[in-house]
Amino acid sequence: MAVVSTFCKKGGVGKTTFIAFMGHHYAKQGKKVLILSADDQNSIFKCFGVEGKIFERNDDYLEFLLAGHAELGDILIEARENLYLIKTLNTDKLSMKLTLERNQEKAVKRMIDEYSSYFDYIFIDFPPSSSRLSEVLLDLSDEILLVVGLDSLGLGGFVNTIQYFIDNDLNMDNIKYIVPNGYSKNRRAPKISLEILEGQAKEFTPKAFVLPALQEKSIIKNLQSEGISPFDDTKMSSYYDQSQKEQLASDLLELFKHITLA
Ligand SMILES: Nc1ncnc2c1ncn2[C@@H]1O[C@H](COP(=O)(O)OP(=O)(O)OP(=O)(O)O)[C@@H](O)[C@H]1O
Ligand SMILES: [Mg+2]
Repeated sequence: MAVVSTFCKKGGVGKTTFIAFMGHHYAKQGKKVLILSADDQNSIFKCFGVEGKIFERNDDYLEFLLAGHAELGDILIEARENLYLIKTLNTDKLSMKLTLERNQEKAVKRMIDEYSSYFDYIFIDFPPSSSRLSEVLLDLSDEILLVVGLDSLGLGGFVNTIQYFIDNDLNMDNIKYIVPNGYSKNRRAPKISLEILEGQAKEFTPKAFVLPALQEKSIIKNLQSEGISPFDDTKMSSYYDQSQKEQLASDLLELFKHITLA
């Protein structure tokens, strides 16, 4: 069992998108997958079209489990076969509790330990903001995939994330992969950004493998707006979208060949 996280201090770079792709990919391979949303926007739910489940009940958030008011089975939300999601209610408040009450940190660790016998992979979707919850969960992550947007602000986010790891004494060796996101053959900026990123990764995260860049593709937004994953069998209404969806799924499968999880 491995705890796998997508992280970057910069917002909107594709952390949630990428972890949804990965989570569903492994679930389709028959692995039991949990995606824990450490972001109380819970946007991972949208990627699978189950955002209705965020507000369906108000007693099935992570916080209820940590407070001892719910069991694992009560808070798991099934998104696809073999793929379960957990939502968070108020990560600021939870972070405050983690700072003030030492036993809360133990409760988070115990939870991850306990879940490791139920799941093959626990994926964690992080928010871009820093919090005590993020620090605790990053510390518990075996493998971190650092998602970087291929533009100058995205590169700034990469350096900022490295700085954050150093400042918070987090283990940079756990950054196993860099995921460059937003490549485009027809634009100069992403190409230049990728070259710069490769140089910076050699310097700052020499143990991390820079994955082939994920292309900027409008189908990703179309799929998310319909709550469809590229690995779903659902047919898209237009022929063009359907072929783009199939192309995306096949690109992702190629990309995932480079990833080996513990
Ligand atoms: N390769 C891509 N091509 C086109 N759009 C993309 C791509 N990757 C992500 N997006 C879009 O960019 C937006 C931000 O993606 P996402 O929510 O996954 O980022 P995030 O890093 O999780 O953001 P946050 O920091 O707010 O959690 C979404 O609208 C998503 O559809
Ligand atoms: Mg996100």
